[in-house]
Amino acid sequence: MTSPQPSALVTGATSGIGRATAYQLVSDGWQVFAASRRTENLDSLNQECEELPGKLIPVATDVTDEASIDALYDTVDAQGGIDTLLNIAGGAMGSEPIADTDIADWEWMIETNVLGSLRVIQKFLPMLRKHGAGTILNLTSTAGIVAYEGGAGYNAAKFGQHALTGALRLEEAEHNIRVIEVLPGLVKTEEFALKRMRGDEAKAADVYAGVSKPLTAEDVADVCAYAVNLPHHINLDQIVMRPVKQAAQHKLIRDA
Ligand SMILES: NC(=O)c1ccc[n+]([C@@H]2O[C@H](COP(=O)([O-])OP(=O)(O)OC[C@H]3O[C@@H](n4cnc5c(N)ncnc54)[C@H](OP(=O)(O)O)[C@@H]3O)[C@@H](O)[C@H]2O)c1
Repeated sequence: MTSPQPSALVTGATSGIGRATAYQLVSDGWQVFAASRRTENLDSLNQECEELPGKLIPVATDVTDEASIDALYDTVDAQGGIDTLLNIAGGAMGSEPIADTDIADWEWMIETNVLGSLRVIQKFLPMLRKHGAGTILNLTSTAGIVAYEGGAGYNAAKFGQHALTGALRLEEAEHNIRVIEVLPGLVKTEEFALKRMRGDEAKAADVYAGVSKPLTAEDVADVCAYAVNLPHHINLDQIVMRPVKQAAQHKLIRDA
């Protein structure tokens, strides 16, 4: 007997790590509901996935909006449901020290990274419990375990998402839901630093300046796909992944 096609919901699927992860899972034969706000990006991803073994279903979604998540749930439910949820939507805003930081940036980061994940998890938990062998993967960050100068707001959001992930693993084990946390260090994606630096291209480029091989979106996608493709009884609790040139948060070798 062949096993049924695995089915995942990937948030943050319009760019960077989420997009690469959705693409990787469709390459691996999964059905993937790709969720985030920008419909044109979802459409182009859909086109790229057309010849792959799996199937992509784009669903424009805002993780800060409950009505939008309700609509996402209805679409997923009507098309067979999911066994795996990957919360990848998120990001950073600003890099000022606490003395100068803008509370609105913190609100955006907590709203998107922490409460966005929480909303989606709460909505889909009953479906995953009912499935009987569900998986939740939360994409946090090394910023969720080590604070750094200029990182306080992002640290607060990612520490929050990290805590949510730890508690969720304890609470849901009895429902046979495995909870995976992937914590990348420096990943060079097209938009992450540019958004954080409010569109300042020079400042965004400085983040990666001289680092010969930062991680790529595809590197992180490989690891996410590996973790969710493992037999379900294997839970990779926490996967910290960094480029070799970033031995720690404070030790980044810029030699290129
Ligand atoms: N790049 C790094 O160095 C790095 C390192 C560690 C962890 N991370 C984490 O990895 C994740 C992806 O980062 P990335 O580098 O791939 O950045 P990115 O390209 O900016 O991707 C962010 C994604 O989040 C989505 N998103 C933002 N707000 C949303 C909302 N309200 N509703 C739905 N989707 C929303 C965006 O889509 P829309 O704007 O279309 O909605 C986009 O798809 C983030 O959680 C980030 O914190 C990144």
